[in-house]
Amino acid sequence: MVNISIALDGPAGAGKSTIAKIIAKAKKLTYIDTGAMYRAITLKILRYGKNVQEEQIKKILSDSKIDIDGNDIFLDGKLVTEEIRKPEVSNFVSHVAKISFVRMKMVELQRKIAANKNVIMDGRDIGTYVLPNATYKFFLTASIDERAKRRFTELKEKGFNVTFEEVKNEMEKRDKIDTEREFAPLRQAEDAIVIDTTGKCIQEVVDEILYYLK
Ligand code: C5P
Repeated sequence: MVNISIALDGPAGAGKSTIAKIIAKAKKLTYIDTGAMYRAITLKILRYGKNVQEEQIKKILSDSKIDIDGNDIFLDGKLVTEEIRKPEVSNFVSHVAKISFVRMKMVELQRKIAANKNVIMDGRDIGTYVLPNATYKFFLTASIDERAKRRFTELKEKGFNVTFEEVKNEMEKRDKIDTEREFAPLRQAEDAIVIDTTGKCIQEVVDEILYYLK
């Protein structure tokens, strides 16, 4: 049997994870949130401080265990699904994700999890690097204001004390680092279907994707 894989890429706050979870349920696919994996390792690195050196990061990486179980993510056996969404992690994750040896390790893990499964994987480099032969590739975008508004609302609901401007600035900085990094930057795959989610509700985007999956 040939496995189905769906790559869902795009900048921060484009709605990737919300949409991916719904599609995964509708189509009985395994959902893999690759951003959560970069966030988990960032959470661990931050425990050693922001000035941690490359050699130490290598050691942290080799001593760490990251597991995904449905929508839950575990770092060294501990559930960190909520903790990895902290603004401190969001502000630092792109600096960690641009390090090539970190990416190599994460990509290896992502491909391993995806092997022999029908998957929907969301991230930045899925269609271009992690799963270049994915059955379907989508690239989700939205205006920066809409993306920041969505993330701001989400963070407020979770009780984080942030302002809209802070969220918007953090997103712009993150997108810049993600787009400009040397190794597997955030980029739309040439064969990806682009969906601009600005002004669209979740169901509209889901329906659009389901239409292509028919
Ligand atoms: O998807 P999310 O916004 O949680 O991703 C957090 C960060 O992880 C991104 O801003 C990016 O720096 C990094 N990332 C990445 N490659 C992926 C997924 C996420 O570099 N495939």
